[in-house]
Amino acid sequence: MDSRQSYLASVLVEHVGVGVIILDSQLRIQYWNAFISHCSGKALEQARNQLLTSVFPEASTPHLDGMVAQARDHGQHVYTQWRDNPYLIKLPFKPSREPGALMLQSTLLFPFRDMEEQLCFGLLLYDTTEFARANAQLDAALDALSSKQIEQERLIKKLEKANAQLLQSEKLAAIGQLAAGVAHEINNPIGYVFSNLKTLAGYVQDLLRISDAVDGAASLEEIRQLKRSLEYDYIRSDIEALIGESEDGIDRVKKIITALKDFSHIEEDEFQLADLHRGLDTTLNVVNNELKYKAEVIKDYGELPEVECIPSQINQVLMNLLVNAAHAIEQFGRITLRSKQEGDWVWLEVEDTGKGIEPHLLNRIYEPFFTTKPVGKGTGLGLSLSYNILQKHNGRIEVSSQPGQGSRFRIWLPIRQPAEGSLGTTEP
Ligand SMILES: Nc1ncnc2c1ncn2[C@@H]1O[C@H](COP(=O)(O)OP(=O)(O)O)[C@@H](O)[C@H]1O
Ligand SMILES: [Mg+2]
Repeated sequence: MDSRQSYLASVLVEHVGVGVIILDSQLRIQYWNAFISHCSGKALEQARNQLLTSVFPEASTPHLDGMVAQARDHGQHVYTQWRDNPYLIKLPFKPSREPGALMLQSTLLFPFRDMEEQLCFGLLLYDTTEFARANAQLDAALDALSSKQIEQERLIKKLEKANAQLLQSEKLAAIGQLAAGVAHEINNPIGYVFSNLKTLAGYVQDLLRISDAVDGAASLEEIRQLKRSLEYDYIRSDIEALIGESEDGIDRVKKIITALKDFSHIEEDEFQLADLHRGLDTTLNVVNNELKYKAEVIKDYGELPEVECIPSQINQVLMNLLVNAAHAIEQFGRITLRSKQEGDWVWLEVEDTGKGIEPHLLNRIYEPFFTTKPVGKGTGLGLSLSYNILQKHNGRIEVSSQPGQGSRFRIWLPIRQPAEGSLGTTEP
């Protein structure tokens, strides 16, 4: 090193913002730089040739002995962060000499040889106060984050509870819709059975008059006359028609009641083997009054095995898909129902020729409360409920739609539910 280089090196060592102490092999202080003078408030002249541990008694720790042994015996650079005891030597001032201790230090102790090949030690001290402060901030931020997370988990629980309540209210809304439909469906046959009964009562009066006349009539001709005036022939043929019609009406009511019972399966809220086509047919019966003015229904069923499901819930999904299909059709259209088995899975499909769904809305339709229908007509809960039901069945729901042409909703169900705790069946 030429003299200019060693001059630069010594200026650097003197002014660097790191404490530099040079010790001889006995740990006597030979030199320290301005940083140490400033921060310790001690003068190098008084410390020279004194033991490090007599100038800085606090440095006398087994830990320092260990560091020295490692550096001396193995020639190693020993780096230490003074975390437990946060400093090696007390530095009560900042480098600018303002009060404020540098209490957090990292140190590096390393051996080297001087010009006479004598063993010396270099001891560097870094101020890690800033680093520690940043660390503390980080810790605080992490703490805040974790308490946020706890809060979020609490909110999610709350949401889940609200969701369950919502599903319950959608169920009630579905039942309300159903009840309105059923009332409409039953009203009609009951209406004409009632009016038929009235007409029949009138006819019975007339017939009784004729039979009463038999006792008091002077001649057969008189009775014939009475029969003609009461239009007996017409009454006779009309009675048959009225009774036939009324039987049909009562039959229709009976069918609706059976379908309703089938549909609700109130008492059977657990998984069981069920015929999905039968479920679809009863559901069709129940929503008939929503569909019949809107669409021709075409059944294109495949062969299906019995499927392990909760029938009332699957019926509820199908009802929602059917009602949605009817709502989507503006004038009169077609609703096609298809089904198929594929491996361990089956699917059911409801396709309509309605107005379709805009692509940017496709991923929103399962959101609770998402509806494009006017107030009172849509709750926006049907598809979200359906989605949840299919999830509970380890199945799924798919949609494809062309605006202006129609939509197709397909639900997939595993034929058998995976055993409790297993990872689920493989998807087709
Ligand atoms: N078959 C369909 N054709 C067109 N749009 C549909 C169809 N089914 C569902 N949608 C859209 O998805 C929305 C959400 O459906 P849903 O959850 O059943 O709620 P709601 O029927 O009460 O609006 C509907 O408002 C509609 O915009
Ligand atoms: Mg709906």
